[in-house]
Amino acid sequence: TRTPVNVTVTGAAGQIGYALLFRIASGQLLGADVPVKLRLLEIPQAVKAAEGTAMELDDCAFPLLAGIDIFDNPTDGFAGANVALLVGARPRTKGMERGDLLAANGGIFGPQGKAINDGAADDIRVLVVGNPANTNALIASAAAPDVPASRFTAMTRLDHNRAISQLSAKTGVSVSDIKKLTIWGNHSATQYPDIFHAEVAGKNAAEVVGDEKWLADDFIPTVAKRGAAIIEARGASSAASAANAAIDHVFDWVNGTPEGDWTSAAIPSDGSYGVAEGIISSFPVTSENGEWKIVQGLEINDFSRSRIDASVAELVEERDAVKELGLL
Ligand code: NAI
Repeated sequence: TRTPVNVTVTGAAGQIGYALLFRIASGQLLGADVPVKLRLLEIPQAVKAAEGTAMELDDCAFPLLAGIDIFDNPTDGFAGANVALLVGARPRTKGMERGDLLAANGGIFGPQGKAINDGAADDIRVLVVGNPANTNALIASAAAPDVPASRFTAMTRLDHNRAISQLSAKTGVSVSDIKKLTIWGNHSATQYPDIFHAEVAGKNAAEVVGDEKWLADDFIPTVAKRGAAIIEARGASSAASAANAAIDHVFDWVNGTPEGDWTSAAIPSDGSYGVAEGIISSFPVTSENGEWKIVQGLEINDFSRSRIDASVAELVEERDAVKELGLL
């Protein structure tokens, strides 16, 4: 039998945590033959709620779940971790300035990055879900100088999946026949969902749609503002769909992306497509042997160029702001 993989989940008692943990324990994160040990990290006030979730996990009698431990400090939470899902974050509250938001999250993701650096397993892979996800991932990575930067990623897979769903609704083609869609940039309202290289049932998506006005005025804002629309409708933010996207991201990272397709993930930029080197930006990516690779050689038209540049500019601003706070 295989040795269990240690999976640390922060914010385990939150709503994404509740949607995520059962799917991890059932084998959907890594594969149906991989046993997992869960390490739940919460703040002290939420440990009791995490214990309640752990009781429910026990009650599922998942064959692949080899153990659950609950921690209220990052040093213990990340000890021996092979996969870390950083979900817990400091949300923006009313009237909060960006600087305050970044400083508050620096106080979470800096120490977590250090704990990963000092205690995680050599093969550690980190996905940051908690917002502002891209910059939180950058902060954690900077605090973990001994861990390759490529192991720190942020989630734009929910945006990717939302874009596929919207394109499917527009074209009437099933989601499984939509390929090569890309989310560029930041997981924020400036993100750019790009269909110019996407395929709808084997045909170029932009040509099938043939409607730049729909792209600019409908598709892009619908995808970018979907989070707000969910809050408006549900009275709570996206949780199950966010957890689903986290599962997709890690599964593809570990097991590889399918031949003839790619996905979107925020990974450290190597300068490809003019994206400032070092920032954690969303790209078209494939995964092979457990490593993300940026898809190369795509032609970027003017429509796409200006939108990619705007989102990258926002990420550069966030990076500069956290640098100023001494977090990088
Ligand atoms: P939630 O508020 O229900 O849960 C957050 C949990 O994190 C709470 O239980 C809290 O106690 C815990 N937490 C806070 N600080 C912590 C720390 N230092 N260590 C460990 N745990 C800590 O929030 P929800 O709905 O689960 O969302 C979590 C995050 O995911 C938010 O930042 C949200 O903006 C983000 N998100 C990101 C998405 C993406 O596409 N990248 C999509 C949806 C949400």
